[in-house]
Amino acid sequence: MRYSGAVRTERAHGGPDQAERYRTLVRELDALLEGEPDPVANLANASAFLASSLERINWCGFYLLRGQELVLGPFQGKPGCVRIPMGRGVCGTAAQKQQSIVVRDVNTFPGHIACDPASRSEIVVPILLEGALRGVLDIDSPELNRFDEDDRAGLEDVVRHLAPRVRWEKL
Ligand code: SME
Repeated sequence: MRYSGAVRTERAHGGPDQAERYRTLVRELDALLEGEPDPVANLANASAFLASSLERINWCGFYLLRGQELVLGPFQGKPGCVRIPMGRGVCGTAAQKQQSIVVRDVNTFPGHIACDPASRSEIVVPILLEGALRGVLDIDSPELNRFDEDDRAGLEDVVRHLAPRVRWEKL
């Protein structure tokens, strides 16, 4: 399918434009995943779609809940650390609290796990389906303070739409 890359081409931060761009992105992601039952294919395409639609990022992907830890899933970027215990790093903290975390400067986040040394800021959004934690969406940027509240709201919407389109039990 074709997508517009709308989030990439417009103003970077803030305002109704940003919210509208995320709404477009969610519609395009829905169309991209529709009808495909394979969970790896959908998570792989979702990470590729987000990585090619969002600007000024260097890593974008999923960590999946396996027992009591997060394990690296489909992603775009440099190789990531494979296992993250619950409560560790930005990913493990967001997963444990079941809350999104926006990190303006990764060097100020206690216990931040550095996978790509280029990463300066980060956002992690937990993925929940029917109240159960399934994993997290993790996006890194080489810019300080790349992610704002519009990104948090937009990416939480992305995850809300993505979660029911993935057969988590088949992963
Ligand atoms: N920075 C993350 C680890 C994952 S990498 O960024 C891909 C963290 O602190 O949990």
